[in-house]
Amino acid sequence: MAPNIINIIIIIIITLFLSILITPTNSQPSLNSVEQESLYRVLESLNSDIPWRTLFPDDLCSSAPHGVVCGYTTLPTESDPGQVNIQELNFGYVSDHNPNPPCNPNTTTFDPNLFSSFPYLRKLFFYKCFTTRPVFVQSFIRVGSGQPDPGIEEMLFIENPGLFGSLGGSIGGMTGLRRLVITGSNVSGEIPCGFGLLKNLEEVKLSGNNLAGVLPENISNLKNLKVFDLSGNGFEGNIPAGIGELKNLIKLDFSRNMFEGNIPASFKGLKSLEFLDMSYNKFKNCGVPLVFGEMSNLKGLFMSGNELGGVIPDIWGKLRGVNAIGLSNVGVFGDIPSSIGLFLSNLSYLALDNNKLSGSVPMEFERLEMLSELNLKNNNLSGGLPFSSEFVSRIGRKLVVQGNTELCLDGRVFRSFVKVNGNLGCLKVCKMVENPKSAFPYDVSSSSLVGYQVVSLLLVMFVWLATL
Ligand SMILES: *[C@@H]1O[C@H](CO)[C@@H](O)[C@H](O)[C@H]1NC(C)=O
Ligand SMILES: *[C@@H]1O[C@H](CO)[C@@H](O)[C@H](O)[C@H]1NC(C)=O
Ligand SMILES: *[C@@H]1O[C@H](CO)[C@@H](O)[C@H](O)[C@H]1NC(C)=O
Ligand SMILES: *[C@@H]1O[C@H](CO)[C@@H](O)[C@H](O)[C@H]1NC(C)=O
Ligand SMILES: *[C@@H]1O[C@H](CO)[C@@H](O)[C@H](O)[C@H]1NC(C)=O
Repeated sequence: MAPNIINIIIIIIITLFLSILITPTNSQPSLNSVEQESLYRVLESLNSDIPWRTLFPDDLCSSAPHGVVCGYTTLPTESDPGQVNIQELNFGYVSDHNPNPPCNPNTTTFDPNLFSSFPYLRKLFFYKCFTTRPVFVQSFIRVGSGQPDPGIEEMLFIENPGLFGSLGGSIGGMTGLRRLVITGSNVSGEIPCGFGLLKNLEEVKLSGNNLAGVLPENISNLKNLKVFDLSGNGFEGNIPAGIGELKNLIKLDFSRNMFEGNIPASFKGLKSLEFLDMSYNKFKNCGVPLVFGEMSNLKGLFMSGNELGGVIPDIWGKLRGVNAIGLSNVGVFGDIPSSIGLFLSNLSYLALDNNKLSGSVPMEFERLEMLSELNLKNNNLSGGLPFSSEFVSRIGRKLVVQGNTELCLDGRVFRSFVKVNGNLGCLKVCKMVENPKSAFPYDVSSSSLVGYQVVSLLLVMFVWLATL
C-alpha cells in the first residue's frame, strides 16, 4: 500500500515539475521589436515624465501597462508559438478601475505617424491627451502604413480640445470602423461624403466639436447605425430624409445645432428609436411633428428651444412607453391634451414650460404614477391644479408652476405644496364657490371637520341662548 502511494506522489511531483518546465517554452510568443520600440516611443511622447523602458523592461505583450492589449494574430499550434500583435491602445487615465497610461499635456513631441507601426490595431482611445498641444485629426485617420486602415474598428477621442482639422474624405477607407467617437474636441469642417462608405458603423458620436455644413444624403447608407450623436456642433440645413431608413437606430441626438425645416415624415421608419433629441435647433413654424406619433418605441422625446408653434397635437396613443418629454420654449399654445395623462403611464419627466399654453391642467395628470418632474412654468394656464396632497408631496420641488397668473391651488393641497415646494411664485388658493368645504383653509381631515361642526353647533346654541 504505502510504496504505491509514494509512487503516485513521485509521479505527481514529476508531472508538475515537467509541466512547469514545458510551459514557458510553449508560452506567449514575444512582441516583435518594431512594435515594442514604437510603443515605447508612443508612451514617451504622451508622457515623458514616466520612465516607461525601466518600468516595463520586458516584452510589452507579456507585461504591458493597463490599456495596452495584445492578441494572437496567428494562433499557436504544437510546433508554432503563433504571433502576437498590439490590437488595442488606450491612453489617458480615466479612473482607478481604468488606469490607462496618463497623458501629460506638456509633452510636445507626439508623433501620430508612430501608429503606422501597429498593423493589427483595432482600437485607439485617447482621453484628455491633447489638451494644449495641437494634433491634426487626420493623422489618425491615416493609421496603418500611411493608408486608411480597414482594420481599425474603434476610434475614440474624448475631451481632447487640441485635436483639430476636418475629418477628410479618406475616412471612407476605414471600412472596418464600427465606433467613431470624437467628443469635446476642435474637429471642424463637414461630414465628408465618403462617410457613406462606412457601412459597418454602429456608433457615431461627434458631440461638442466645431463641425458644420449640411449632412450628406449618403448617411442613409449606414444601415447598422444604432447611436448617432451630432449634438453641440454647427450643422445646418434640412435633416436628410434618408435617416428614416436607419432601422437599427436607437439613439438620435442632433440637439444644439442649426438644423432647420421639418422633421422628415420618413422618421416613421425609425422603429427601433428610443431616444430622440432635436432640442435647440432652428426648426420653425412646423408645429410639433405628427410623425412622432408613429414612433412607437420612443422613450425620450426632446424638441425644446425650437419655434415650433401650433397646438400640442394628440399623438400620444401609440407612445405608451415614453418616459420623458421636453417641449420647453417651443411656442405652442392652446390646451394641454389630456391624452398625455391618459396614455403615457410611464411618464416621469414632462417639461412644457415657457410656452403659451392656456386652459386648465388636465386632471388626467394625477394618474401619472411615475411622474417625478413636471414643469409648467411661464404659461397662461388657469383654474385649479387638479392634484392631491400625495401627488404634490411625491413630486416635491420638481413641480414647477409659477408664472401662470390665473392658476390656483385647492386649499387642502396648498399646505402640502408650501411644505415641499418653496417655489410658490404667486400661486393662490382657489376660491371654490361650488364646493364650500374646499374653501376651508386647513386640512379637512374628518376629526377637524367634526371639530368644526361641534364649534358651529355650540356657536348656534350660544346665539340661540343669548336671544332668549
Ligand atoms: C504643465 O506646465 C504648466 C506650466 O508650465 C504647469 O503649471 C503644469 O503643472 C504642467 N502640467 C503637468 C501635468 O506637468
Ligand atoms: C481650433 O482649430 C482651428 C483650426 O481648425 C484653430 O484655428 C483654432 O485655434 C482651434 N481652437 C482652439 C481653441 O484650439
Ligand atoms: C454616396 O455613396 C456612394 C457609395 O455608396 C457613392 O458612389 C456616391 O458618390 C456618394 N454620393 C456622394 C454625393 O458622395
Ligand atoms: C413601463 O416601464 C416598465 C419598466 O421600465 C416596463 O417594463 C414597461 O414595459 C413600460 N410600459 C410600457 C407601456 O412601455
Ligand atoms: C391667456 O388665456 C386667456 C384665456 O384663458 C386669454 O383670454 C388670454 O388672451 C391669454 N393671454 C395670453 C397672453 O395669451
